[in-house]
Amino acid sequence: MQTFVIQGGRRLEGDMTVQGAKNSALPILAATLLCQGESTLTNCPKLSDVYAACRILGSIGARCVMQGHSVTVRADAPSRAVIPEDLMQEMRSSIIFLGAMLGRMGQCSLGFPGGCELGPRPIDLHLQALRRMGVRITEENGILTCTVPKGLHGARIHLQFPSVGATENILLAAVLAAGDTVITNAAREPEITDLADFLTKCGAKIEGAGTGTIRIRGVKQLTGCEHRIMPDRIVTATWLACAAATGGELRLLHTDDASLTGILDVFEEMGGSCSRSQDSICFSGRKPIQPLRYIKTMPFPGFPTDAQAIVMAVLCKANGTSVMEETIFENRFRHVDALVRMGADIRIAGRAAVIRGVRQMHGAVVSATDLRGGAAMLTAALGAEGETVLTEISHIDRGYDSPELALQAVGARIERK
Ligand code: UD1
Repeated sequence: MQTFVIQGGRRLEGDMTVQGAKNSALPILAATLLCQGESTLTNCPKLSDVYAACRILGSIGARCVMQGHSVTVRADAPSRAVIPEDLMQEMRSSIIFLGAMLGRMGQCSLGFPGGCELGPRPIDLHLQALRRMGVRITEENGILTCTVPKGLHGARIHLQFPSVGATENILLAAVLAAGDTVITNAAREPEITDLADFLTKCGAKIEGAGTGTIRIRGVKQLTGCEHRIMPDRIVTATWLACAAATGGELRLLHTDDASLTGILDVFEEMGGSCSRSQDSICFSGRKPIQPLRYIKTMPFPGFPTDAQAIVMAVLCKANGTSVMEETIFENRFRHVDALVRMGADIRIAGRAAVIRGVRQMHGAVVSATDLRGGAAMLTAALGAEGETVLTEISHIDRGYDSPELALQAVGARIERK
């Protein structure tokens, strides 16, 4: 099992190029299954979750080749409508293949996703919506079998909560369904817009992606295209957090300004200065870190739950007390114990964390609990005094493409062992 060994206390300075977005690459890889001919995705991050998605495509009978940061998929004759159980367990977001498999193959069988490190991960909204589109779903021994006896048809679907995954699954099922689909209270995350952009280039008819109402007119066929995966806004937030925690200055390249609503304001409120263009950010974290009196996670365009742990790692050294409320996931404070072991003063009260800033954090031996929790520990370690040994870093490799190389290039002392 690999670890990161980090010598903290060095200011990060220099340029970093932001990788492509995991949460955009995964649904777009699923979408390639809907296409005739070849699809090429560029700027695709090299991550264990992306490799798992490629293995799912392979097991369905598609040809998927990754060369550098480019993935080519050909799904001319998908033959096996099953998501293998081990891949379903390895990556919870495998559920995103459900809509695509139903759209292309008219059937899908997959393991029922249980809980995960963030708490229960229900898929009731996905299944309710698909039922309205003509999908028959049965469950036996934890295996879901989905079929479309009379073909997929469009429907009016109101989501009780703007779930990202459910919105994506409906989109994927609707683009080749008969007739029109309207999703209201749809998720507005930028990754949904990226998925819709890809599908539109392939010939789909979609309006309103990025707003709360998405209209899809089903078409007969989609043809593969070339698409560049959008920049990862959570990785952008992570590098900003690393700069803030070390009092550093970074220029981030290949960013996407429009997707950073709800993130950059928070870094400015913490005392950072951001000078931004459409695709780069110059950030200075030289001033003392200011607390956030109250912040809660919200669906886009609010403050993202995926940035909660990372920003908390910065607030540990703020000049006062901050309160963070997690409203999206039930169990998303598992990083707190590790931060406390590194010297932080954090109390949890239900869904809120009260963070009293301390003057200095110190290194410790800690384990990554989940992807973003691990990134928070990495951030705290870079800004702490002394050595941190961070174990279970496979969680971090799910979402960050060689983070140690990116950080070494701006002066961090971090090694993978
Ligand atoms: C996606 C992101 C994840 C991010 C999350 C919220 C991917 C691969 N993952 O996850 O990084 O943290 O959005 O921005 O894109 N819910 C239900 N029933 C459902 C579906 C969801 O109750 O059928 C609940 C979930 O338990 C959770 C909340 O809705 O509490 C948000 O989930 P959702 O937006 O669906 O997140 P994901 O798509 O799983």
